[in-house]
Amino acid sequence: MSLETNDSIEINAPSSTGPGASPVPSCDPSRLVPDIDPVPVKERAPLGVVELALDEGQTVRAIGLVYGIEHEISGDGFRATVFLDQYNQRLRVYNYEATDYEALILKLRWLAEANGFDKIICMAFPRDWERFLRHGYVLEAILKYYHGGEDALVMSKFRSQERLTSPNLMQEILLIEDILSREPMPGPRHPAPEHHVRLAQPDDIGPLIDLFRSIFRTYPTPLIHRSYLENVFQTESLFAVCEHDGAIVAAASAEMHPRVRAAELTDCATRADARGRGLMSALLQRLESELKRRDFICAYTMARARSFGMNAVFHQLGYEFNGRLVNNCDIFGAYEDMNIWVRDLRRLGTASPPQVP
Ligand SMILES: CC(C)(COP(=O)(O)OP(=O)(O)OC[C@H]1O[C@@H](n2cnc3c(N)ncnc32)[C@H](O)[C@@H]1OP(=O)(O)O)[C@@H](O)C(=O)NCCC(=O)NCCS
Repeated sequence: MSLETNDSIEINAPSSTGPGASPVPSCDPSRLVPDIDPVPVKERAPLGVVELALDEGQTVRAIGLVYGIEHEISGDGFRATVFLDQYNQRLRVYNYEATDYEALILKLRWLAEANGFDKIICMAFPRDWERFLRHGYVLEAILKYYHGGEDALVMSKFRSQERLTSPNLMQEILLIEDILSREPMPGPRHPAPEHHVRLAQPDDIGPLIDLFRSIFRTYPTPLIHRSYLENVFQTESLFAVCEHDGAIVAAASAEMHPRVRAAELTDCATRADARGRGLMSALLQRLESELKRRDFICAYTMARARSFGMNAVFHQLGYEFNGRLVNNCDIFGAYEDMNIWVRDLRRLGTASPPQVP
């Protein structure tokens, strides 16, 4: 994708302050709720030399830094695209077709077992959820609007007691209850005028990596590797950044799934000294308007269930809370539960954000 020169916006520039806009006061850090402390539930996965089973009698030995392998499987009565997610020790089913569900589900179980993965996660069509349930899967969340406007049911199967057990679950339930009890402030949010929000450009990759490295102790995707970022940058994933005094102080991305017209809002990070000033809200709104322009229907996120801030941001923006994925990925130094928030982009106002030449 070639970046247009007018894809940047000055948030809260006088021309952008529309009716109903709420000025954001400078933030008092004491009003920010800290994250719930992590409790590691299982060992981190080795990544250096990895042997993965692709099928009976077929393995691959990968050397280097291996996060995972995308792989097509098929058999009598089914086919599916799966991700052998070594980093997060899970099998992700990206899409599937089946006439023989039993055969598909047994193949998924075989793959998980052969690779030592203790979670299988599948975005199932609503018509299929009972078929998965009968094989020990649980409904963890509903990704509304995910399949081109139709819901996806996140059906998961756990294959170890440690993966199934979330030590923070009760605290996380109370955190969500607290957030949902707060009335979101109406109207768009604008941070102070010296903050500049825009879509990212290739020159931003270095500073983006520095920002992500300074914030995330571990991350479930190869986000801090330049060659990975160069590959996905503004093609598979749109990045938006917020600058202050010439430095990138916050960033977020939208990982796009154009086949189903859904996008995951992810990679959300605001430098500690810039939090609570509405920067993440502004970045996410910038990404939403770009996704809407490209005819995406579903925007969703998987927010760290221990992070009050991340969940507060999506609630404030009007997203619907739709479930929790237990011990879903290794982020911030430990496996964590992730909360699902979704939005139907068709219901977003049609006005684009103000453009600054
Ligand atoms: C989560 C995070 C991205 C939030 O970024 P941010 O720029 O501070 O968010 P915003 O200022 O846009 O917040 C929007 C609203 O949520 C509120 N909020 C944000 N963090 C909060 C916190 N920790 N406690 C209470 N409220 C919080 C803000 O005050 C604001 O509410 P308001 O509009 O009523 O004032 C940031 O804290 C962060 O980078 N955390 C570490 C990385 C991380 O965990 N990322 C999530 C990965 S899933």
